[in-house]
Amino acid sequence: MSRDAILAPSLHRARRQRLLSDLGDGLLLVATAAEATRNGDVLQEFRPGSDFHFLTGFPEPGAILAAWRTGARSHRAVLFVRPRDKAREVWDGPRFGVVGARKLFGFDEAYSLAELWQRLPSLAAAQPRLFHRLGVDVAFDRRLLDAFAALGKQHRKRQQPLHPAISDPIPTLAAIRLQKDAAELAALGRAAAISVAGHLDAMRVAKPGLREYEVQAALESRFRREGSPRNGYPSIVASGRNACVLHYHENDRELRAGDLLLIDAGAEFAGCTADITRTFPVSGRFTEAQAAVYQIVLRAQVAGIRACRVGAPWDRAHKVCVRVLTRGLVKLGVLRGKVAKLVKKEKYKPFYMHGTSHWLGRDVHDVGAYQDHEDTAHGLVAGAVLTVEPGLYFAPTDRRVPKQFRGIGIRIEDDVLITRKGPVVLTNGLPKGIREIERACGGESKTR
Ligand code: GLY
Ligand code: MN
Ligand code: MN
Repeated sequence: MSRDAILAPSLHRARRQRLLSDLGDGLLLVATAAEATRNGDVLQEFRPGSDFHFLTGFPEPGAILAAWRTGARSHRAVLFVRPRDKAREVWDGPRFGVVGARKLFGFDEAYSLAELWQRLPSLAAAQPRLFHRLGVDVAFDRRLLDAFAALGKQHRKRQQPLHPAISDPIPTLAAIRLQKDAAELAALGRAAAISVAGHLDAMRVAKPGLREYEVQAALESRFRREGSPRNGYPSIVASGRNACVLHYHENDRELRAGDLLLIDAGAEFAGCTADITRTFPVSGRFTEAQAAVYQIVLRAQVAGIRACRVGAPWDRAHKVCVRVLTRGLVKLGVLRGKVAKLVKKEKYKPFYMHGTSHWLGRDVHDVGAYQDHEDTAHGLVAGAVLTVEPGLYFAPTDRRVPKQFRGIGIRIEDDVLITRKGPVVLTNGLPKGIREIERACGGESKTR
């Protein structure tokens, strides 16, 4: 069983049909994520594979989808699953089994995983192509090739191909996942709302003397209470100079008066995640130096979001942000010279070293192509969701930076849905103006 909500089988059937229509005739194989050992006989928390869950809604480990077109508007879907097992279920909890897979998830056929290698070769042999990504599970690939070899021996006299043409379905699936459907937009909206609530709680509780992980606990406890089964990625709760470590994960420093706290965290809901960053003062008020840097990042972010329009190259927000940030770096006295030239020479890079955007959906860095074969940036399409997340990071020991700015790291990140009417910020329930943030932090100066 799983903490994930179970959505209507018809939704997943429609998604499979769409994919199979785009792929054409052939047998599609998609496995869920592999279970991973944490230590000894303890497993990592299981999360279904994103592609598999998108196409099936099935939440248990040890499952493989096989599907093929039977007509322009129809297909047949088979699920191989872990069978019911009374003894195992005492330890691990109930399983859906083959009956549950058919009745609750709407599969045409379901079999025990143990039957996979009896059934798969003949299913594949009946189709002109096999849609399967090689290289993800090499043991599986090996067995597949062995099964084809065994089949080939039976037909040696006919001299037919040893195996069907194998084609990778993932780019086609990624293109579908890039433009979110209504169910995914609903899930993303809910993930965003839950994440906003968690970030607001973090702003309220943070104060000097707490450890970063105590703030993390408040944030994630709100995520869970609002119905999110897990985080979309490990929360970054980085105070003071830790904010300059882009994927900081220790989260164990004590917050000090005068620190900024950068939190980059998102809750998952129905398989989709938000991805939000806010940076706020632990004591409730920005210092003058912090506010000066913050305003530049904020200005860049607002301009970047405005650039997210249908047809615009997906990385236009980055170009816009880089220009605003570079202008700001000159104003702060970090860089000297003409903005255009500084941008061209990438002089901002020591202080802004990451990209501004990535696709967002089931995966925090979601699937979807960014450029074509000539490396030309793809244009934004309605239904795509991307982040806009500029920042400035001044290492504590960087002598190029005026003293008052050293050790300051600021990032502001929102999630933006592309629509024909312009960008829609899914996470705009969370304040980001200086005064609004101070108010959300409690208004007055916070001490231990
Ligand atoms: N949370 C990771 C990122 O913003 O890309
Ligand atoms: Mn991000
Ligand atoms: Mn983030």
